[in-house]
Amino acid sequence: MRRSSELTDELFKGFQNYLYYHTGITIRDNKKYLVEYRLQRYIGEDKPYKSFSDLYRALEQKKDPQLERIVINSLTTNYTYFFREKVHFRFLEYYLKTYGSGQSYIRLWSAGCSSGEEAYSMAITCLEAGYAYPEKDIRILATDISERVLKKAKEATYHYSSLHGELSDSQIRRYFQFNKKTKEFSVQDFVRSLVVIRELNLMDIFPFSRQFDVIFLRNVLIYFNAQEKEQILEKMYDVLKNKGYLVLGLSESLVGLHHNFQPLNYSIYRKGGNTP
Ligand SMILES: C[S@@+](CC[C@H](N)C(=O)[O-])C[C@H]1O[C@@H](n2cnc3c(N)ncnc32)[C@H](O)[C@@H]1O
Repeated sequence: MRRSSELTDELFKGFQNYLYYHTGITIRDNKKYLVEYRLQRYIGEDKPYKSFSDLYRALEQKKDPQLERIVINSLTTNYTYFFREKVHFRFLEYYLKTYGSGQSYIRLWSAGCSSGEEAYSMAITCLEAGYAYPEKDIRILATDISERVLKKAKEATYHYSSLHGELSDSQIRRYFQFNKKTKEFSVQDFVRSLVVIRELNLMDIFPFSRQFDVIFLRNVLIYFNAQEKEQILEKMYDVLKNKGYLVLGLSESLVGLHHNFQPLNYSIYRKGGNTP
């Protein structure tokens, strides 16, 4: 007998098509178990959806605006693009312009950076806010657990789809070099020089000597259970400067978790302090 919570071949095909349509990413036919495994946590009597078909129907009917993001994030471990969730880069620009000049050094961290688009977007934001190395002691650390994506981050060469319409033509001309042969865009050296790329498992001890101004931990916590999330948050808290900021993905929040951060808008959290 078929379990009501089973992912049927037909539904699996639906998720494959959905993902391909929305992200251009193909889930291979032999990855049905992965879709089942990744979405399982949302399925059950005590969960948001009773069955995979319930979830799929809600997705198709766009019932919950967060659901599309949750499904995409769950199924595409490394999904990212330049200036994803742009409001956070506007916030970073605000931080740099408001507090940057008062800092003797600035350290930013893209934690769970995937193939590097987030870290390079932070670097472009710094440059646009008037900060450049070596005039200012400023660095962006980009870390991930996956060697495969870090290799791509180091290559810093992207297909146009990664630029995703979030960058203007003049920004693309200024910060990228177009390779006519491969039709790809390489991040310019002066942008790359702001970014340091390292392998780091967020479950490990953080090996930092300097504290961070702003940490982007976006669309990463989804991969951890509550206890692991709390451990990571505690370590993040410790490595932030006082009045530093932790930025989660827009669909994420720390509700239900023990932590010491002050919540602000747009999934942004602050370590101490009362000023906005
Ligand atoms: C969906 S991507 C997010 C990329 C980017 N932060 C963004 O929001 O566009 C999640 C990344 O988290 C990384 N990740 C998952 N578990 C991790 C861990 N234990 N330590 C470090 N990175 C991890 C994955 O390899 C993946 O590249």
